[in-house]
Amino acid sequence: MSHSPQALIPDAGSPNVLLVGVDLGLPDFDGELNELGLLAQSAGYQVVDRLACKRKAPDPALFVGTGKAQEILDLAHAQGATEVLFDQALSPAQQRNLERFMGMPVNDRTLLILEIFAQRARSHEGKLQVELARLQYLSTRLVRRWSHLERQRGGVGHRGGPGETQIELDRRMIGEAIKRTRTRLEQVKRQRQTQRRRRERTGTFKVSLVGYTNAGKSSLFNALVKAKAYAADQLFATLDTTTRQMYLAEAQASISISDTVGFIRDLPHGLVEAFSATLLESVEADLLLHVVDASSNRVPEQMAEVQSVLHEIGADTVPQVVVFNKLDAIEPSRRPSVWHDTLEVEGEILERVWVSALQSKGLDVLRHVIAQHMSQSDENHSSISSLSTSTHF
Ligand code: GTP
Repeated sequence: MSHSPQALIPDAGSPNVLLVGVDLGLPDFDGELNELGLLAQSAGYQVVDRLACKRKAPDPALFVGTGKAQEILDLAHAQGATEVLFDQALSPAQQRNLERFMGMPVNDRTLLILEIFAQRARSHEGKLQVELARLQYLSTRLVRRWSHLERQRGGVGHRGGPGETQIELDRRMIGEAIKRTRTRLEQVKRQRQTQRRRRERTGTFKVSLVGYTNAGKSSLFNALVKAKAYAADQLFATLDTTTRQMYLAEAQASISISDTVGFIRDLPHGLVEAFSATLLESVEADLLLHVVDASSNRVPEQMAEVQSVLHEIGADTVPQVVVFNKLDAIEPSRRPSVWHDTLEVEGEILERVWVSALQSKGLDVLRHVIAQHMSQSDENHSSISSLSTSTHF
């Protein structure tokens, strides 16, 4: 094995970041900052250190206290960080104050997710959706971008001063850009609706894969349809919806199956709104396959997050089958003895199928379950032999 000398030199292209998490007593606090670390890596950052602290409530000015802010700054300097990333959403004022205090860029989880979305968007629609979310985020942060100008040109509060005019101008420009992007997005949405209607006319049963980011949706999609959708150990590898027709021998019919964008905790609201067209695929599906990374130690939190986004976009009434993926990565002693059982999710009993997309295991059972749902939704369809909940491995 040869070692490249470059591997020892820090990559100048990837900024060094210090991760900061503030425990405000919320149940989903991630003391290890694992997910933020994954997000940062997915965005191309180099994580140099992590710091978690506790507070009863966020400080309105700095989010953390002055002493803690100094500690963060000292650690950032000691570890050579060039940027600080907070796991929690910062208000525009907190972000501005922290940047002044630290003398380096301070960003939050929301911006990081936006950045990843911007890097990953491939389709015209995806790019427009990200652009809209980015513009909306920017419009709330305008004050920060121009505050230095205000200071240079006569100070804050100098009514009608050039700084203020600049903000007005910038706000108008952003407002117009938002309007333009919305209009273009509307056009793309209409095209998509036409395509969708065409598909609906063919009466194809529609299955949509949903799930927390990195759950293995693209891998499962590939394993089921043997297509080549992009699967990577990165958060949000897929942003655009990929739809394929697939022949389901168990139902003797073709179905359409879609792989959609992954969900995540605190998905910036603007993104949910901007990605509504993509997420709509889920609302209009006949069946949702909720893919879960069964090997994760945050299964309940991640599932709850997905249910909450489904609720937000109005897809919570679509029949759902839970697919516990990555069976191969679960410790053998913790593996279930059946492929197919049930699970209570928010008071509702849902069917669950255990699979390993990577090893193509459990897929026959999953196909049977899809076929069963298909026959249930279509009375004319030939009945399919039912699977008992104790289908053994
Ligand atoms: P997003 O695009 O972020 O929403 O991710 P996704 O849900 O589409 O996940 P993807 O298919 O990209 O897989 C994420 C990672 O999990 C990849 O490294 C896959 O190789 C891995 N993975 C997927 N399925 C399995 C599985 O059954 N077992 C194991 N061990 N790893 C898997």
